[in-house]
Amino acid sequence: MAARFPAHRLRRLRRSEALRRLVRETRVATEQLVQPLFVVPGSRVERPVPSMPGVAQLSVDRTAETCRALADAGVASVLLFGVPERKDARGTGAVDPDGIVPRALRAIREAAPNLLLMTDVCLCEYTDHGHCGLLAGERVDNDSTLDVLAAEALAHARAGADLIAPSDMMDGRVGAIRTALDGAGFAHLPIMSYAAKYASALYGPFRDAAESTPAFGDRRDYQMDPPNVEEALREVALDIDEGADIVMVKPALPYLDVIRRVKERFGHPVAAYQVSGEYAMIKAAAERGWIDEERVVRETITAIRRAGADIVITYFARDLAEASARA
Ligand code: PBG
Ligand code: ZN
Repeated sequence: MAARFPAHRLRRLRRSEALRRLVRETRVATEQLVQPLFVVPGSRVERPVPSMPGVAQLSVDRTAETCRALADAGVASVLLFGVPERKDARGTGAVDPDGIVPRALRAIREAAPNLLLMTDVCLCEYTDHGHCGLLAGERVDNDSTLDVLAAEALAHARAGADLIAPSDMMDGRVGAIRTALDGAGFAHLPIMSYAAKYASALYGPFRDAAESTPAFGDRRDYQMDPPNVEEALREVALDIDEGADIVMVKPALPYLDVIRRVKERFGHPVAAYQVSGEYAMIKAAAERGWIDEERVVRETITAIRRAGADIVITYFARDLAEASARA
């Protein structure tokens, strides 16, 4: 039977912050947030990314210092993206045991031993053409890319990564990486796959930060078509079947329905990536005084959690951690 007025007045539980908190259905805990970082060559480098106010490319030394500060602020996890010294057609820098990400991993481990270190595994930062895999003509060749991705994941594992996050969207890459890790003594290392990653217009600022804009064409040949959700469920099913421990939906806010469907169908831990364009839109509007940044950030992350995400990857992780510590 439906509740009826005047016996029921839903406003009663909204009268004070204490009451609102008491009955709040969705919470954002700092330990569910992941802060992405962009590591670049050199030392003492801190190069702001113009399209992402508050985000900078950092050299390994600065990355380690930043990680210590993040850990002090309560951030529990970071996701590392590396920009190598040199790029080539085969993305050789990605598999270098002394490449940019392995060096960052070792330095961070020293500076902030308890931070959970996730690494993005992809080739677009390492290839001179900026695509996420090896080329055969003008197209990305799926199967020959798998070996390189597996080697990259192994390089990260050997340098101390806690979790591997492949973002390339090649078919079969989770299985290839899982097999390589298992064969090298890393059966315990979890994989968070970018399972439902859409060919979104919201990655532009990231490509400035990661220096990974494709030299020609776009990524629609391997990333998902935005109108599709049934296909996202097939992507997630395949990744889980190949051994993914955590599955990701990306971007986040325009794809809340996808997050919800994935959570309900599979019940696996679900991550959502609030991407660079989502960040830039909030920053740009807030800079003009058109929206209240802190409130919009909290509202969007809460919505992503409410949709079903257990983990949120966001460039606002540090701000949120600091705000929670103040509250
Ligand atoms: C690269 C990668 C991208 C992002 C994460 N990994 C961009 C892309 O596919 O071009 C996007 C993250 C963001 O926009 O914040 N494989
Ligand atoms: Zn890529």
